Amino acid sequence: MKGIILAGGTGTRLHPMTSVTSKQLMPVYDKPLIYYPLTTLMLAGIREILIITTPRDQAAFQALLGDGNALGLSFSYLAQPTPGGIAQAYVLGSDFVAGHRSALILGDNLFHGDGLPERLRKVSGAACESGATVFAHQVADPERYGVVAFDAAGRARSIEEKPTRPRSNWAVTGLYLYDTQVVDIAADLTPSSRGELEISDINRIYLERGQLAVERLDRGVVWLDTGTPESLLEAAILVRTIEQRQGMKIGCPEEVAHQMGYIDDAALEAIASRMVGSDYGRYLARYLDTARFAQA
Ligand code: DAU
Repeated sequence: MKGIILAGGTGTRLHPMTSVTSKQLMPVYDKPLIYYPLTTLMLAGIREILIITTPRDQAAFQALLGDGNALGLSFSYLAQPTPGGIAQAYVLGSDFVAGHRSALILGDNLFHGDGLPERLRKVSGAACESGATVFAHQVADPERYGVVAFDAAGRARSIEEKPTRPRSNWAVTGLYLYDTQVVDIAADLTPSSRGELEISDINRIYLERGQLAVERLDRGVVWLDTGTPESLLEAAILVRTIEQRQGMKIGCPEEVAHQMGYIDDAALEAIASRMVGSDYGRYLARYLDTARFAQA
């Protein structure tokens, strides 16, 4: 399975912070925002990832993340000329995903929770070869999201983008798994009234074909999107609270790469030694010491 991180957009709601840089490069406590969706894909077992950015910010993402080799991954990059909608990821990325199942994650979505990695690996694994899977989470303000409603048997019945009168409080999160049909579906979409290729239209087509699975995330899983100064701060406080209490980082790609067996001790040691002046680098060195002790 291949992965796409959609990290473009104008970031208007974060101006002036995003006047000269990308929202997905802004810090969430101790690391850039994009590290969180990146580690979500990594924990799902995905190693080949396309990062779609604005033309302005592509060089900065490349400077931060490189070609992925240091993490045992492969990154490629594409620029979205203007924000034409989330589903445009599959128009721009059609060559990248051609013939492969894929996961798309929004670069401003943060997921964290018990059992989530196992669940992601299960749905991204061979058992789900056809159709699409989306993840839903209950929210207090469903009108801000794609909303999925269920019938009495718990089957998805409708998907609507930002409905004025939501039929449920289940928001569709910014993580989507698709089979190979998605490229053709995206190519046939027409822009919505707000001029965007809507991801909810892709999901609705899968639903109409009887090929949409909706995984409901319960309150043990945290899902945040970080489009405003308030939500960025909330995310930072949450990350700090968890990390300081547990002494473990969340959204740390180097640690995940080591845990997943994508890089060995020596590779992680080299990364940690380059960042030894920061708490982040010292954390990696400590993590490696503990991992080595456990292996001995
Ligand atoms: O966060 C989940 C929600 O994301 C879903 O429930 C909605 O169905 C989905 O439409 C989307 O809603 P948003 O209002 O959050 O979408 P937004 O336009 O803010 O875009 C989400 C991210 O994707 C944002 O970080 C910027 C990026 N993006 C967006 C568009 C439209 C791009 O990179 N390119 C684009 O063309």
